Amino acid sequence: MRIAVIGTGYLGTTHAACLAELGHEVLGLDVSADKVAKLESGEVPFYEPGLERVLRRNLAAGTLRFTSDYGEAARFAQTYFLTVGTPQKKGEYAADLGFVDAAIDTLAPLLTSPAVIFGKSTVPVGTAARLGTRARALAPAGDDVDVAWNPEFLREGYAVNDTVHPDRIVIGVDRDRPGRAVAVAREIYADPIDQEIPFLVTDLATAELVKSSANAFLATKISFINAIAEVCEVTGADVTVLADAIGYDARIGRRFLSAGAGFGGGCLPKDIRAFMARAGELGANEALTFLREVDNINMRRRTRLVELAREACGSFLGARVAVLGAAFKPDSDDVRDSPALNVAGQIQLQGAAVNVYDPKAMDNSRALFPTLSYTTSAAEACEGADVVLLLTEWQEFRELEPSDLGAVVRGKWIIDGRNCLDPRQWRDSGWTYRGLGRP
Ligand code: UDX
Repeated sequence: MRIAVIGTGYLGTTHAACLAELGHEVLGLDVSADKVAKLESGEVPFYEPGLERVLRRNLAAGTLRFTSDYGEAARFAQTYFLTVGTPQKKGEYAADLGFVDAAIDTLAPLLTSPAVIFGKSTVPVGTAARLGTRARALAPAGDDVDVAWNPEFLREGYAVNDTVHPDRIVIGVDRDRPGRAVAVAREIYADPIDQEIPFLVTDLATAELVKSSANAFLATKISFINAIAEVCEVTGADVTVLADAIGYDARIGRRFLSAGAGFGGGCLPKDIRAFMARAGELGANEALTFLREVDNINMRRRTRLVELAREACGSFLGARVAVLGAAFKPDSDDVRDSPALNVAGQIQLQGAAVNVYDPKAMDNSRALFPTLSYTTSAAEACEGADVVLLLTEWQEFRELEPSDLGAVVRGKWIIDGRNCLDPRQWRDSGWTYRGLGRP
């Protein structure tokens, strides 16, 4: 099938490359000519394991191309995916739908023949129905244009696998005019459907809410264990052992129960805020007030890390602090709402000299926090440091040797913001080890 993917950011690039991998002919569209040129030359503008290989293979096979021209996309395909960003509005909780609206307003007037548009971006419930009405009003093909919603659940770092082998496929369609969307989706995802991956057909609102609630649940699970970590800290209990013990209960499950610096990234923080804002608009404000607490618990972990660092230094004035990790999680160069950079920035504001090192996220970090100092290795970041903070659990940090780092630091204090080190190994080597929610 010929498919156009509108918006080649993180989600769109992955989706376009993986649809080509699933056997379709795909045209990716982005308004940024620069991004299009990079993708056309086989370069992925962000770090995602395995994606460049899939991109290049399909570019070479001629099954994947990129353009900035909406006219070309409209001539090429009758099936579209909308994968533009829905960032948080400045100074508000709500999502900014400017990119989604602009994409529909530009594409729809070019649709002269029947078309199906699948939205993938995370949007406030009610957006899909509104976009359907708008697209049909603007398109010469009118009623022959269907807007359906196909939420995306991929995780950064596992994006290719999550797209080609999803846990489930959800297609939301307009109950009053179901149109061809379900049949088209079955054709697009024939491969995963053959592998018996659950395929759920819902109404538009349910599909939109599936995505918002999945992210809200994951954020809640992380904040739940981080709240318990706070209690562990005042009782001497160990949250890592506790998480193992409760995680053996299949009803609870161990995944997303790792206490630490908390969640960041381009999805969970902004999505729970947008979800609260939308519930408020719909008069269901009280239903989601607990998410405000989820957000508060998450932010308190960052403050706690700053406090632990201050305790280690005595005073931040004249202190040197090493921060290992800048990405919001390992195997990603994404620094959006990263707990690591937030903590590093707070410590610097309070007067310490902060050296940051991350294996992949240095360029993005420099662009976002130009005033922090950056180094080219973990050891360099730790030179002369009074305290080392491990804030993103990259494998290379898990493998650090306490004796190697001990030789370069000024004070042997390590704060394990992801509870990924063995406390005994560090303490045996003469370090003061502090985890989160650990004695
Ligand atoms: C998330 C959802 O998992 C995905 O389904 C959705 O499509 C997009 O948002 P992603 O942002 O890639 O994916 O990251 P994820 O792996 O979910 O991690 C989010 C954050 O939570 C990271 O900062 C991570 O460090 C943190 N986290 C995760 C914890 O603090 N503890 C955990 O136990 C798990």
